[in-house]
Amino acid sequence: MVRHFLDLMDFSNEEVYKMIDLSRKLKRADKLGACPKILEDMSLGMIFAESSTRTRISFEVAMTKLGGHGLYLRPGEIHLGKSETVKDTALVMSRLLDAVEIRTCEDEDIAELAEHADVPIINGMGTYLHPVQCLCDLVTMSEHLPEGKELSDITLTFIGDATIYENVGTALSHILPRLGANFIYAVPEGYEAEESFYAPVQKAIEEGGGTFSIMHDPVEAVKNADYIYSSVMWYEGFDSDREKRTKDFLPKYQINEELAAQAPDHAMFMHYLPAQRGYEMTDAIMDHERSLLWDQAENRLYGEMGLLVYLLEPLKKKASAEVKAQETARIETWIAENM
Ligand code: CP
Repeated sequence: MVRHFLDLMDFSNEEVYKMIDLSRKLKRADKLGACPKILEDMSLGMIFAESSTRTRISFEVAMTKLGGHGLYLRPGEIHLGKSETVKDTALVMSRLLDAVEIRTCEDEDIAELAEHADVPIINGMGTYLHPVQCLCDLVTMSEHLPEGKELSDITLTFIGDATIYENVGTALSHILPRLGANFIYAVPEGYEAEESFYAPVQKAIEEGGGTFSIMHDPVEAVKNADYIYSSVMWYEGFDSDREKRTKDFLPKYQINEELAAQAPDHAMFMHYLPAQRGYEMTDAIMDHERSLLWDQAENRLYGEMGLLVYLLEPLKKKASAEVKAQETARIETWIAENM
């Protein structure tokens, strides 16, 4: 049965570590100019119902570097959910493509596409989860581990919004405790998670032995942090409550030099981007020598290369050299006799 990538938690810890390892090996090969064309002849459809810089660019470049092809499918360009049902689009795409990445605020469209597709569907960010960002961030953290620590030992403090609409925070708060690590949310009053949020977190803690906590004091929250993560205070286009959020978050829940001084000297700064410079994070932190922001953006490419190879290589049609030669000869003979 085909495996979709809707939630990183659908993959075991062992598989997550394998994807991280594979991503780093592909990164090394690419940096040497020796990236293997493992996905030659394979095609990824990329549906973007919402805007994107990193996801849009990195998936297409990932397919190109691996010898395949990424097709950008703009909103309005395909019939999905308008002139034809999501199910029919899924059935057609399954005949024409090897995998489909989709970004949309309609989580039910992602689920429905996956229900009917028999090629892998990759969640390129929905409302609830951003599993691709989460995997790529694990790649980044694995490259920048505090001395003497493994991913299973780290503490990540996420400053922002713990409602279920914080899709990166939600994804990280599931996987890190399952890896054995510690996840701390520092949120203003009123930005705590809904009750339903805690069931997967509790399951992750039971399975992996890590911890999860939520607090309102950012100083307390960062005092043992290896990584201090921030999310965007508002998205352009989804910012009707911009004024309220700004008032609720600033200045206490901003990652700035004053807050950073309360964290261990090695603490590193993370943000999935795009950021509102000077709001959730100051320029000094974004451009700090311990900022991982640009590594995170770069690793969107390599984490996705690892993911694509992990999902698609087993599905690749692998004709022997003999079969390839026979088929080429058959077609060349037909052309010679008929054209
Ligand atoms: N972090 C992230 O998903 O960035 P984009 O919205 O630019 O794809």
